[in-house]
Amino acid sequence: MYKKKSLFITFEGIEGSGKSYQCKKLFNKIKRMGLSVIKTREPGGTKGAEKIRNIILDDYFYPDSKEKFNKYTDTLLYLAARSEHIENKIKPSISKRKIVICDRFIDSTLAYQVYGKGVNKNLVDTIHKSILKGIKPDLTFLLKVNISKAMKRLKQRKKKNRYDKFSKSFYNRVQKAFIKIAKTNRKKYFVLDNSKDNKDVEEKIFNKFLKTLKK
Ligand code: TMP
Repeated sequence: MYKKKSLFITFEGIEGSGKSYQCKKLFNKIKRMGLSVIKTREPGGTKGAEKIRNIILDDYFYPDSKEKFNKYTDTLLYLAARSEHIENKIKPSISKRKIVICDRFIDSTLAYQVYGKGVNKNLVDTIHKSILKGIKPDLTFLLKVNISKAMKRLKQRKKKNRYDKFSKSFYNRVQKAFIKIAKTNRKKYFVLDNSKDNKDVEEKIFNKFLKTLKK
């Protein structure tokens, strides 16, 4: 039997890295163990945050529109969605000692908005200080992927979003940023190459989860 304890696990990576698939796999395995676990995502995860997600994603579908969100509006919307998510879902779940699996979190804002788009890092750090309420992931899985493989996976998707149209060099920059972030804390980050479609990564993720749970 495992002691009931909260764990906050995040998955990060560029589109087509297979993180949503791996989130689902880990969630199902933990559920089968009889542990109390939830799966959520960013932007989104609560009614209010999903509304904000739709506003963000909606803007992307009109690339030719004259009036588009600038990178600061965009960033503030991600942060607004995160604030809702933390307050109404993540924090209450952690208080109830649940395991929380989140598809994207703060590192996505750093990788896409700060490193990818050149948004001021101090602004993001300052807002994070106020909205995170001391909540930090215990474990982050960063899924690396060969960029051409990621593009192939994206082409097969039915539902697209704006980044699906971004250039290889943008994805490269964002992925490099994720790797740089992961190097700042080797204990918390677990970096895996998810370019191949096999069960290897799924098993490594589950083993790492079990080790963290036993700590
Ligand atoms: P998803 O495709 O993983 O659901 O994520 C939606 C998009 O939002 C994805 O293109 C990455 C982007 N994103 C950011 O740019 N910054 C953020 O802080 C988050 C959470 C997502």
